[in-house]
Amino acid sequence: MVKKLSDTYELNNGLKIPCVGFGTWQTPDGEVAVNAVKSAIECGYRHIDTAAVYGNEESVGKAVRAGTVSRDDIFITTKLWNDEHGYEAALKACDVSLERLGVDIIDLYLIHWPNPIKFRGSFERTNAETWQAMEELYQAGKVKAIGVSNYLPHHLESLLKTARIMPMVNQIRLFPGYTQKETVSYCREKNILIEAYSPLGTGKLLDAPELVPIAEKYSKSPARICLRWSLQMGFLPLPKSVTASRIKENADIFDFTLSPAEMDILTNMPNHGGDGMNPDEAPF
Ligand SMILES: NC(=O)c1ccc[n+]([C@@H]2O[C@H](COP(=O)([O-])OP(=O)(O)OC[C@H]3O[C@@H](n4cnc5c(N)ncnc54)[C@H](OP(=O)(O)O)[C@@H]3O)[C@@H](O)[C@H]2O)c1
Repeated sequence: MVKKLSDTYELNNGLKIPCVGFGTWQTPDGEVAVNAVKSAIECGYRHIDTAAVYGNEESVGKAVRAGTVSRDDIFITTKLWNDEHGYEAALKACDVSLERLGVDIIDLYLIHWPNPIKFRGSFERTNAETWQAMEELYQAGKVKAIGVSNYLPHHLESLLKTARIMPMVNQIRLFPGYTQKETVSYCREKNILIEAYSPLGTGKLLDAPELVPIAEKYSKSPARICLRWSLQMGFLPLPKSVTASRIKENADIFDFTLSPAEMDILTNMPNHGGDGMNPDEAPF
């Protein structure tokens, strides 16, 4: 079991990935993003999760360069946005992200969604071409690992018909009460690491009646309980905050262990975070 933020999981290509990623969706570009990422790095986070569509890659890069921790010790993930699917477009989009981040190499590059509205109807062919570009980026050394996000088993099945390289990661929506069992077990069979996005249900879970008594028992906040559950499930959680005290709080999840009975309660509690978007119907 991991014991600190810089402890790592190993991807199927041997690359080590720090076990908690710092989320940046809805973190405004500029000072807010720079300060949030800087405080995360100061608190010990060594993995930052951004995306082209978040509009804050430049700030993430700036914060990484400004800190006292070397770039090589920080794992940066970014994602290919839906408009840029297809072979040529994906190659170009990666170059743009490298430029905006101001780095020579991206640690993990993900296809953000499997079935963008722009390519709906031809997602299988488009994904195959996009994945070919991802494989070339990997082989060319522009990215250290490649993966996907929001992929259900049927999207992966389709991708694997032509893929030469197995995705290393699938980043999906996961939190207590929302566990995507089929996708998780499919990915585990294929040795694809599961990253848990919205691990706090985008903040909607934190007063859930199942969570609060467990938080009280350990004298830990509900947010920490959610993140601890995620780690004990073997996921890689990606908590987001722009609030310095919460960034610090969310890092403090290594000095207690939830019992099997508590893990069951959290796994099986009702979904208080709302249903996510069906990737085949997402309106973007
Ligand atoms: N691949 C995808 O399609 C996808 C989709 C969604 C998210 N993600 C990734 O996953 C990350 C996390 O998901 P998320 O942004 O949906 O939300 P989240 O991490 O589940 O929750 C973030 C929300 O909870 C609040 N919060 C954080 N820590 C707290 C604490 N200790 N106590 C009380 N409130 C707290 C934050 O507020 P403040 O910021 O105001 O402090 C924010 O409103 C994203 O940032 C992104 O990197 C990926």
